[in-house]
Amino acid sequence: MKKVLFEITEENLDTGLRGIPVGTCVTSTVDPEKGLFYCGIPIAELVEASCESVIYLLLNGKLPNEKQLASFVDQLHKRSALAPQSISYIQALPKKGHSMDIFLASLMIVKTFEGKQDYVEDCINLIAKLPTLVALVINHLEGVKHPVTPNAGLSYMQNFSAMLGIPKKDPQLLSEVFRLFNILHYDHGGGNLSTFVGKAVASGLQDLYGSIAAGMSALAGPRHGLANQLALQFVEEMIQALGSSMQEKSVEEYLKKKIAKKELIYGFGHAVLRTEDARATVQYAFAQKHFPNHPLTQAVLYLRKVGPGVLKSLLNIASPYPNVDAVSGSLLTMANFVYPQHYTLLFGLSRGVGIAAQILYERTIAREGKGTPIVRPKYLYRPRL
Ligand code: MLT
Repeated sequence: MKKVLFEITEENLDTGLRGIPVGTCVTSTVDPEKGLFYCGIPIAELVEASCESVIYLLLNGKLPNEKQLASFVDQLHKRSALAPQSISYIQALPKKGHSMDIFLASLMIVKTFEGKQDYVEDCINLIAKLPTLVALVINHLEGVKHPVTPNAGLSYMQNFSAMLGIPKKDPQLLSEVFRLFNILHYDHGGGNLSTFVGKAVASGLQDLYGSIAAGMSALAGPRHGLANQLALQFVEEMIQALGSSMQEKSVEEYLKKKIAKKELIYGFGHAVLRTEDARATVQYAFAQKHFPNHPLTQAVLYLRKVGPGVLKSLLNIASPYPNVDAVSGSLLTMANFVYPQHYTLLFGLSRGVGIAAQILYERTIAREGKGTPIVRPKYLYRPRL
């Protein structure tokens, strides 16, 4: 007898496909209680790894041995530079608007000059070029003239950091925060909006660059990736409002007032998770270790302590717990990457990897290599009220 996975009732309509299984995912899974796993490994066990090893894991289903890693690192380096035409067209883009918009346009420029119309080639090329491309977009928007020439002696995120022409107070710590941020944001199952959209677009056989651009457009919204910069803004406003009187009680009152005024509380809640996001747990520990006395660390820890109780009692939401955005913007700021307008772009730099890995699998390996069919869910007609 066939196993029933989910029973659909009228209540499930118009709920954003919440909880409805639609496929399988080989790269990662999100357990409501235990959080994120990459290829069966809990995310907390991967936070000391190199970006290159974790990317290899997502692409191949297992961590590399030394030889495999060396050859993969070499492959990434060989493919990491952007073509001169791509660079000059990107530098001709307007220096206004959100960096995610310029990133979308840049992806299509790279597709035009460097796309191979081959999922395998484009996947590895795009992953290799992402740090170069994102550094170029940030330098361009910040009006900084700085070469985006990858250095074979540097790691994935050290290279990104080195190509950014912006002032850096402690480059080593900044690269370390970039490495952690990058690993934590690669993938989050198959159903998060950016991944779902990217894979859906690829199911129509749009190429990898076009599909990733669609996924990045989905990531740019405030209910998805943009929330990381809004969450930082939220914490900074709270610090400003409470000043030196910031403590558990005042933070609790602050949240209650915000909720009474129907204002949004950022950095809490998740569609799937029913406990603190494992990615937030790792970042709290990092903040406590590296920036124990910073006001942002204190603020995020107070919010972690009182937020779930306030949200549960006043809003009665299923998931009142801190999510990945609760700490990420604060960590970047404490590491002196003081460009919150680009925090969502850093999310994109990372998520592009997971979406590319999932698209590669769905287009070239799934269903004995035939690939998953074009996405085509059913909508029931209902006359307007
Ligand atoms: C993500 O990482 O994509 C977010 O946590 C949202 C999600 O998983 O739905």
